Amino acid sequence: MSQERITSLLTEKRSYLPPEHGKSAAWIGSQEEYESICQHANDDPEGFWGARAAQLLHWFRPWNKVLQSGSENFEYQWFVGGKLNAAYNCIDRHLINGRRNKAALIWQGENEMNVRCYTYQMLYTEVCRVAHALSSLRVRKGDRVALYMPMIPELVIAMLACARIGAIHTAIFSGYAEGGVLSRIQDSKAKVVITADAAMRAGKVKPLKANLDPILEKCPSVAHVVVVNRARMENVAMKRNRDVWWHDLIDDFTLDADFPCEPMSATDTLFLLHTSGSTGKPTGVMHSLGGYLTYAAHTTQWVFDMRDDDVYWCTADIGWITGHTYAVYGPLALGATTVMFEGVPTWPNPDRYWRIIEKFRVNIFYTAPTVVRSLMRLGVAWTERYDLSSLRILGSVGEPINPEAWTWFHKYIGREELPIVDTWWQTETGGAMIAALPYANKLKPGSATFPLPGIDATIIQQSTEEDGEQEQRGYLVIRKPWPGMMQGVFQNPQKYRSYFERFGIYESGDGARIDEEGYYWILGRIDDSINVSGHRLSTAEIETVLTAHPQVGEAAVVPMPHDLKGEAIYAYVTLHEDCPWSEELRTDLRNLVRRDIGPLASPEYIQFVENLPKTCSGKTLRRMLRKIAGSAYSDLGDTTSLASPAVLPAIIQGHQNLMAGHPEQYTDA
Ligand code: WT7
Repeated sequence: MSQERITSLLTEKRSYLPPEHGKSAAWIGSQEEYESICQHANDDPEGFWGARAAQLLHWFRPWNKVLQSGSENFEYQWFVGGKLNAAYNCIDRHLINGRRNKAALIWQGENEMNVRCYTYQMLYTEVCRVAHALSSLRVRKGDRVALYMPMIPELVIAMLACARIGAIHTAIFSGYAEGGVLSRIQDSKAKVVITADAAMRAGKVKPLKANLDPILEKCPSVAHVVVVNRARMENVAMKRNRDVWWHDLIDDFTLDADFPCEPMSATDTLFLLHTSGSTGKPTGVMHSLGGYLTYAAHTTQWVFDMRDDDVYWCTADIGWITGHTYAVYGPLALGATTVMFEGVPTWPNPDRYWRIIEKFRVNIFYTAPTVVRSLMRLGVAWTERYDLSSLRILGSVGEPINPEAWTWFHKYIGREELPIVDTWWQTETGGAMIAALPYANKLKPGSATFPLPGIDATIIQQSTEEDGEQEQRGYLVIRKPWPGMMQGVFQNPQKYRSYFERFGIYESGDGARIDEEGYYWILGRIDDSINVSGHRLSTAEIETVLTAHPQVGEAAVVPMPHDLKGEAIYAYVTLHEDCPWSEELRTDLRNLVRRDIGPLASPEYIQFVENLPKTCSGKTLRRMLRKIAGSAYSDLGDTTSLASPAVLPAIIQGHQNLMAGHPEQYTDA
């Protein structure tokens, strides 16, 4: 995070009290109530979580033990002995509790006229059919099913069909390109992949099935590919005996065929989701059924103060954890109405979100700071023409929300009265950890406020020797286990342990500060991750792609501050001898990353350098490179650890040239 943004967060002094109207009906209606629940959850965590799990979910069989701790490997098992099914909790029980004809899922297609709405009864029918269909492809309990799909209802149906069978779904964001998809399918050893012919994106047809075909050559685990016909593309290559159209497959199953829910153990894995790790290889985060679903329902209810007649919209793509927890599992477990949008906020006009809010009378709207920043730039004329008066609560996730974006969101979308719940969490945490409760906590723009009840967060101040320099940093850690925490890293126990090794408790990888009133201010990643538009990317993964180019010697990738994206990617690249740099090479390198990982990872700037700054022992001084990328030349710290200090002026000069010469040229939309 840039120095400037940190400073603006540090100097932010305003605060906003929760609205009076709505307090009495709220799940948690005051700061005192919040504090007393925290006290209780702290005194008796197992009693607290056990009560929430019993209130929020239907259990086929109750658990014997709320929490089982394996002392050695930081392994925690939640609701041991309990039996349940996620599809039962998200659908079946609502058929008999009065919500049968309630809208479960309202889908807005990219085309304004294209709307689909599923009641809980309709969702049940479709999920049963798809469960039968997957079962006919021999998908069984514990098998992995990869979902490389756009934002269409079939994605939600496929997730719940897997859950019904007890198969483990593993979603792959549809914006990922070859390398990202390949590593995820290979790591999970998926038996079936579900995809679509193409995704619709800003009026364009982006093929998915055709991307997948060359990848599958290297994925021997995949026996079948199910293809949703979304874009009516012609000439979609279908491999005999392997590929099948979704509509053909489910056609064999009648509308009245129940598919019984597999009674799963609470400690079985519900899904796998890969996130960018500290190495070049993505981390396969595993979430357990009982703990995750309890935590998803629990946080959705309290953080968004969910009521039965609310229309709730989380704008995140379901390919990310936010979409899993807050577009699908949390709201459906509560029997809520969840909105899903296929398109992007700016196409055909930058008013799509506001149109949808007006059209469906959305009450709760959860989005990301990067979206707020990009819409803010386009002016209030796009918001003013819509009736947003149905809104009751706003939410933010993915990165710290800068006070400027907060203020705009509050003023123009929240009519200066709605609470904005800033929610800090991670793929690994399953759900929100540090977040405001809308009718309880006073807000401070840019702060995620306090840890939720039962979440034992703290900050460890430690001087570390990073790049040979002393630095004071506050590590954000969680001391006690919680039900939403990841269950493990798929087939990589060592990686799982690495989250706990430094402090003996869960280390988030973020830096943070707690102010005098106990408010948490998240300062960004401490490890080698970059947060682009609220999405975590690994520097090592991008460096691996760059150095695969035959002319590239070394690459060092660092974050740089960016007005819209929060952070952007800045790459320093050295070339082999006799390889001259050129604009063409720069374009090639960007395309390489784009093709291999996806457009999101494409470097904003590539600076060719003669040498990288190194210590005598040969370690690259990344901290210095970060400072230079952020133009903080005067803040380079102790340069005496450099093996040859002479390399610095050249790098700084090169950075200045790049900034002056090619201002927007490398911007990646
Ligand atoms: C990282 C997690 C689950 C959220 C979606 C991204 C950053 C997330 C906030 C926030 C400040 C935030 C952190 C975190 N982050 N939310 N409200 N304030 N920073 O999930 O890809 O697992 O990334 O996103 O740096 O570690 P993710």
